[in-house]
Amino acid sequence: MKEINVGIIGLGTVGTGVFKILGKFPQIKTLKIAVKNINKKRNIEGLDESILTDNPFEIVNNPDIDVVVEVMGGVEPTFELLKTAINNGKHIVTANKELLAKHGRELFESAKEKNVVILYEAAVAGGIPIIMPVKTILGANKVEQLAGIVNGTTNYILTKMTEDGISYEQALKEATELGYAETDPTGDVEGFDAVYKLAILSAISFNKRVDYKKIYREGITKIRKEDILTAKELGYRIKLIALAREIAQGLDLRVHPMFVKADKLLANINGVTNSILLKGFPVGEVVFTGAGAGEMPTASSVVGDILDLATELKYSSYPLPLMRCKHEESAVQVDINETYNEYYISLTASNNPGAIGVIGTICGRNNINLSVVMQKGTNDDNTAEIVVITETSKEQDVQNALRELIKSDCIKEINSLIRVMN
Ligand SMILES: NC(=O)c1ccc[n+]([C@@H]2O[C@H](COP(=O)([O-])OP(=O)(O)OC[C@H]3O[C@@H](n4cnc5c(N)ncnc54)[C@H](OP(=O)(O)O)[C@@H]3O)[C@@H](O)[C@H]2O)c1
Repeated sequence: MKEINVGIIGLGTVGTGVFKILGKFPQIKTLKIAVKNINKKRNIEGLDESILTDNPFEIVNNPDIDVVVEVMGGVEPTFELLKTAINNGKHIVTANKELLAKHGRELFESAKEKNVVILYEAAVAGGIPIIMPVKTILGANKVEQLAGIVNGTTNYILTKMTEDGISYEQALKEATELGYAETDPTGDVEGFDAVYKLAILSAISFNKRVDYKKIYREGITKIRKEDILTAKELGYRIKLIALAREIAQGLDLRVHPMFVKADKLLANINGVTNSILLKGFPVGEVVFTGAGAGEMPTASSVVGDILDLATELKYSSYPLPLMRCKHEESAVQVDINETYNEYYISLTASNNPGAIGVIGTICGRNNINLSVVMQKGTNDDNTAEIVVITETSKEQDVQNALRELIKSDCIKEINSLIRVMN
């Protein structure tokens, strides 16, 4: 078999896994590995430290390297490195969702010009095969909807809050201690990571260019333990959902927490596990579940991509045509205000007669019907928490109603608004 030479940029969590697994495939030769700190003690079995460099340009400019494996992360200098690699005619395998969401267009365009491919199976849900299935065997389908739990950190936090009745802060602390959350967890808990993944996944599912900046985003930092408890009482679980669906006006793309009926599959995906449910025609519903991160699961996807490339390069000078970027048209992305949802809303109201009537009147005035109205006991300061669930309503109407509610004398606070999955 023809030997393929790879250069790996990054030898952290994913890079180490990739290096270890590649050792089992003699047809793939790792010529060089770039790291930031060349003096770091590595203790990686089988690693000849003389192939390490702290200059990643030595990899992208190395004429002997066929495939550049980018598992370093970040946007700069990664973008510059991959552009150089592509210009030098190298195929790319990357796990970098942020880079692809932000600069995918330029990278895929240069790859097309240079007749090379960019493979990124690990970028969306770590070890779960989703990119290749959507681009290949599901190709006959018109995708109608995607709904996924694509961030393990937030799913771990929400699971802990649900199972142990603890606050967001406590659950985040536990996640950090266990290494499931980074020291700065913003990218995960504010939903940025899920937005990057959704941008990539929706672009290939709907065959349109997607602007990640126009994807509506809300993280989980405002979820209260009271919301988790009420959700449970009403037969739901709260999950951070990445949602994509095609509606009459265009693509409705968003990442935000949702009430999910407790008997639905996504409600039962717990801990750091990821799961993506795809609805399409003619396939119907398919679900992809597994490890969305971690050294070995992520390396499994990266090495899978490298092996596919190696096999193709043996037979063809135009490898993996199915994995090339086909779409040129930009998606019309629908503003969240134009979407229709059911909503869970928690309010603090003065515990006086008529408060529920005021809520009903204001909602009614804004075209919102209520399917659940519940008072959750009273507080010492003569206020009470009132929870409502709406029937399907327009986001703009709900936001207008909230503005009116907060101005009314008897509503003291809007505690939460969480959309309900139907
Ligand atoms: N971790 C996961 O489970 C997972 C899952 C899916 C996708 N990903 C993606 O995979 C990528 C890597 O993640 P990771 O968790 O493996 O990161 P990581 O553990 O922080 O490793 C990053 C590696 O890149 C090296 N590096 C950083 N800056 C560099 C520079 N300027 N020049 C050369 N090398 C540099 C670091 O060198 P030193 O070793 O010297 O510090 C380290 O080896 C990211 O894009 C991430 O989003 C990760």
